[in-house]
Amino acid sequence: MNTAVVILAAGLGTRMKSKRAKVLHGAGGRALIEHVVQAARAVAPPDRIVVVTGHQAGEVEALLAPTGVQFARQVEQKGTGHAVLCARKKLKRHDGFLMVLYGDTPLLSGATVRAAQQAQARSKAAATLITTTLADPTGYGRVILNEHGGVEAIVEHKAATPAQLEVRLINSGIYCFRADLLWKHIGEIEPNNPARELYLTDMAAILNHHGHRVQQFHLDNSSELLGINTRVELAEVDRILRARKTRELMLSGVTIERPETVTIDAQVRVGADTVIEPFVRLLGNTIVGEECRIGQGSVLESAALADRVTLGPYTLVADSRIDPGAHVGPFARIRMDTQVGPEARIGNFVELKKTRLGAGSKSQHLAYLGDSDIGERVNIGAGTITCNYDGEKKHQTKIGAGAFIGSNSTLVAPLEIGEDSYVGAGSVITQEVPSRALALGRERQVNKPDWVAAKKKKTSRKK
Ligand code: UD1
Ligand code: CA
Repeated sequence: MNTAVVILAAGLGTRMKSKRAKVLHGAGGRALIEHVVQAARAVAPPDRIVVVTGHQAGEVEALLAPTGVQFARQVEQKGTGHAVLCARKKLKRHDGFLMVLYGDTPLLSGATVRAAQQAQARSKAAATLITTTLADPTGYGRVILNEHGGVEAIVEHKAATPAQLEVRLINSGIYCFRADLLWKHIGEIEPNNPARELYLTDMAAILNHHGHRVQQFHLDNSSELLGINTRVELAEVDRILRARKTRELMLSGVTIERPETVTIDAQVRVGADTVIEPFVRLLGNTIVGEECRIGQGSVLESAALADRVTLGPYTLVADSRIDPGAHVGPFARIRMDTQVGPEARIGNFVELKKTRLGAGSKSQHLAYLGDSDIGERVNIGAGTITCNYDGEKKHQTKIGAGAFIGSNSTLVAPLEIGEDSYVGAGSVITQEVPSRALALGRERQVNKPDWVAAKKKKTSRKK
């Protein structure tokens, strides 16, 4: 079946009350238009999919470029019929089928798109239109049937008579046309509406007028066809996509406590027997291994967790990797290309930035480790700070395997601390520490015996 797809994505989406084009708004961790392109892939290769762009065309095209789809510009948004016309020159062969999808119906599945295409292929109709019946059809085009059950016309909500407004059978905006008949007659659409737009929906009446049949493909379950016009619908679609994702993960062996509270993006992968506590967010290209535990309220963005990693509550991991068996958190922040080694332990209020922490090393409380290369079995005492920034440049700190950094140490970079060395608590370290040495960078303590009694005597004499 030679099928091409045109996806309409040029409109601003006035009802979103946004400066951003509607199809760029996100739901389920992806832009709306990305979901629709994925559904279209069920019936056509990328080079047979044309996305019609207009508002923020550059952004939409840049976002979709990696998928390999084609683009056609609609400079002025003169309606859905006009938008399809704009795609015409990108579609060389005019036999077979032409499907039209709208960029604002992101719940649509590939299976449904294929089913509509097959219904069209099996019939002698000129076009197949996906319809559904809604309890509240407000805003949708109403589908008017003829006495044979075929589609006679589509009437937009604004143009509908009171009797037509009672019709609950609606146009989903998903069509499969015989390409030859669509291109032959599309020029007959006229701007017969107050907005002076060319409505693609007029094709139903036009094809009927030429003696062709238009059939409906009715979906009893309307949930896939929700079109987004406002942010209220956007939130509803996001909720549905999140629920689909958590369900898919639970069925694949992931435990999710209170799934309605977690946010997991479409591309995220999670291994079996991992437990996800409430209010967790797993975003971007995050990958979580098997038998992990993600503590309540943790946020992972493009993070890679190996197997058996545990994150305490409220841990943030971004663009970083955590190796098998490591424990991080609660209240820790791991970011920018950090790697936490196998079995390492990061505790509360510890921040790691661009740091490699070796196997089994520990930083359990209140530390900042930035631009550091830390070996295996290192112990970083509470309150240790790498001073990696001199006001102009960032500098590296290197700590050899087995080193022990006493509490409240200040490590002024660039700095090297040798293997198995000790840094005394409270030190300010500005010079290299040789392997196996003890470095003390602080004032020696002075004790003054009986100082309190001497002080009291002094004050009583003054009185
Ligand atoms: C449209 C249908 C309506 C249907 C509903 C389903 C028409 C005239 N009406 O109404 O029958 O029930 O979808 O959700 O088709 N677009 C362009 N260029 C334009 C105009 C629109 O690319 O000039 C794009 C928009 O970006 C959007 C899609 O087409 O992605 C639909 O446009 P929208 O204005 O949302 O149509 P509705 O009023 O929802
Ligand atoms: Ca719409």
